[in-house]
Amino acid sequence: MLASEPIAPSAQGTSAARSPAPGALAVRCRDVSVRFFTERRSVTALKNLSLDVAEGEFLSLLGPSGCGKSTFLRVVADLIAPTSGSVQVLGASPDVARLRRDIGFVFQDAALLPWRTALQNVELPLEVARGRAQSSKPPRATPAELLELVGLKGSENAYPHELSGGMRQRVSIARALVTDPRILLMDEPFGALDEITRDRLNEELLRVWRELGMTVLFVTHSIYEAAFLAQRVLMLAANPGRVQEIIPVTLPAGRTLAVRETPEFVQLTARLRRVLEVC
Ligand SMILES: Nc1ncnc2c1ncn2[C@@H]1O[C@H](COP(=O)(O)OP(=O)(O)O)[C@@H](O)[C@H]1O
Ligand SMILES: [Mg+2]
Repeated sequence: MLASEPIAPSAQGTSAARSPAPGALAVRCRDVSVRFFTERRSVTALKNLSLDVAEGEFLSLLGPSGCGKSTFLRVVADLIAPTSGSVQVLGASPDVARLRRDIGFVFQDAALLPWRTALQNVELPLEVARGRAQSSKPPRATPAELLELVGLKGSENAYPHELSGGMRQRVSIARALVTDPRILLMDEPFGALDEITRDRLNEELLRVWRELGMTVLFVTHSIYEAAFLAQRVLMLAANPGRVQEIIPVTLPAGRTLAVRETPEFVQLTARLRRVLEVC
């Protein structure tokens, strides 16, 4: 299989509750370019990016600062429109996918509302949806169940200031999942956490992914995190932001942190480092 082809979800994800049609694409990009124009200059944040991501795939995005990782996620989420090229999200344009609530987003900063409890923060997107009177699909998991899924059973009534950084980020993941999105976009979600907390959340994220079966696009600066989590690593180079290489990850399914001590993992991260050096 070519590295530029998406990995079939069954390669690592289980046949989770949601079973996508074989070969269905979560994201399809062709020659996507994004230019930003400011008063003094223009920046090519992305140049001719073409990529297919299969439904249910876990893709890491790795590259130096400023190579367009966040820009790419924002294009998929319909927060910005590409200057040229075409983007399809689950077979539709990004704005249709957004209106269908197909996309959840987790940022580096959990950005919880301080006056609401953990549970009330997770419930917020549902209240917003009801306010818009949209015909919302019934979610597969309740806010309380999602908090349990991310390891926060017992902390439902805690306020954000009573939670650690890692716990706040768990709440933001539960909040992103509460509308049952088919695609989860994560922009350096664990970048501000200490290493031990990050390791633990990496393992738990894999467990949640296997359980729910959504597609994940995960931006990180960490070679180890990218390799541990993903089925493929999309490496972007900067100036202009472009695809440098797409590297398949053939580590076993059901990974635990111990996989990082295997020769395969060491070889893979060495390869990622070599590519990163020329990005
Ligand atoms: N709203 C914007 N206006 C102008 N330039 C931007 C804007 N957003 C991003 N850029 C520029 O586009 C490039 C890519 O940015 P970004 O996608 O944030 O990179 P990354 O997330 O990989 O660090 C950078 O040069 C950045 O300065
Ligand atoms: Mg960024």
